[in-house]
Amino acid sequence: MEPILQVRDLRTSFLTSNGEVQAVRGVSFDVEKGKTLGIVGESGSGKSVTSLSILKLLGSTGRITSGSIRLGGEELTRKSRREMRAIRGGRIAMIFQDPMTSLNPLIPMGDQVGEMLWAHRKDMTKAQRREKVLELFRTVRIPEPEKRFKSYPHEFSGGMRQRVMIAMALACRPELLIADEPTTALDVSIQDQILKLMRALQKEMDMSIMFITHDLGVVAELCDRVAVMYGGLLMEEADIVDIFERPMHPYTMGLMASIPDMHQDKRKKLQPIPGSPPDMIHPPKGCPFAPRCPYAMRICAEELPPYVATGERRRSMCWLLDPEAPAQGNPFKQGKEAAV
Ligand SMILES: Nc1ncnc2c1ncn2[C@@H]1O[C@H](COP(=O)(O)OP(=O)(O)OP(=O)(O)O)[C@@H](O)[C@H]1O
Ligand SMILES: [Mg+2]
Repeated sequence: MEPILQVRDLRTSFLTSNGEVQAVRGVSFDVEKGKTLGIVGESGSGKSVTSLSILKLLGSTGRITSGSIRLGGEELTRKSRREMRAIRGGRIAMIFQDPMTSLNPLIPMGDQVGEMLWAHRKDMTKAQRREKVLELFRTVRIPEPEKRFKSYPHEFSGGMRQRVMIAMALACRPELLIADEPTTALDVSIQDQILKLMRALQKEMDMSIMFITHDLGVVAELCDRVAVMYGGLLMEEADIVDIFERPMHPYTMGLMASIPDMHQDKRKKLQPIPGSPPDMIHPPKGCPFAPRCPYAMRICAEELPPYVATGERRRSMCWLLDPEAPAQGNPFKQGKEAAV
């Protein structure tokens, strides 16, 4: 089956007074129908810019410099602003980290969801819209929907506001839902509820999801596949089971080390990967992770590694996987024990 979303060699830059910020530097991936692709990576790796490129919400300074984005086979990079407005909220819906920035504090919640319907479904009457909003509130498990319809955003908890955002996103039955850190601002138990809800709704609606997070643990709960980003590049892509069983990129291994172990105290301080991310105005000519990579070889700083297939449906961009890379000290050319 053809994937719902196909992104090919996407490059996105921002023009700033300091120079051109090369936020996304040639990224390719698919989102399959009814499946969830997780995009993970540290702050600044290009996750949000990738999703904003798909939605063409790059502001006046950002532009897609090359590549292709196809939704259901239709090229999005060539769509006009008007066409994109119809696609956003219609065929592609979004949920962001902070619902307050997307909600109008002066309008009752029910009316805000209703406006979404009004924008995309002109055929509905006011009464039909109200009925549909109540149905959506029930879908996202908002208790007492009739009463909640008239409440204002500040009267909702963070978790309930995020449920309204999901209701809004689902209003037009999107083919693709892009969720950018939707649970980061919530505490862990609420985060868990929202993730469970998203998973249940996805099944009910057979929706495709692109789920952006810096947290591989969250990805494990929700995603079928995962793409690991760093320095505007996709470092590794694999099915979720494979990536947890055997990460095939030093950066993924570093991210894994920062996941709290179920059996350990969750409050234990996590170990971040030492070092800092690359300067995206002058990105390094080699692998952007090389300066922080414990296994880096001389070539890593000199040349961008090509993709290597590391399994049937997985690939990584790393010189250690090159057939000519030395086996000594190489985590991918020894037993599994050495890799973890
Ligand atoms: N409007 C902008 N103007 C200039 N640079 C930008 C703009 N938006 C993003 N960037 C830069 O692009 C790079 C990628 O940013 P992006 O927001 O995609 O990171 P991210 O992976 O989503 O990080 P986070 O986890 O913090 O959300 C960063 O270097 C960032 O500073
Ligand atoms: Mg982001």
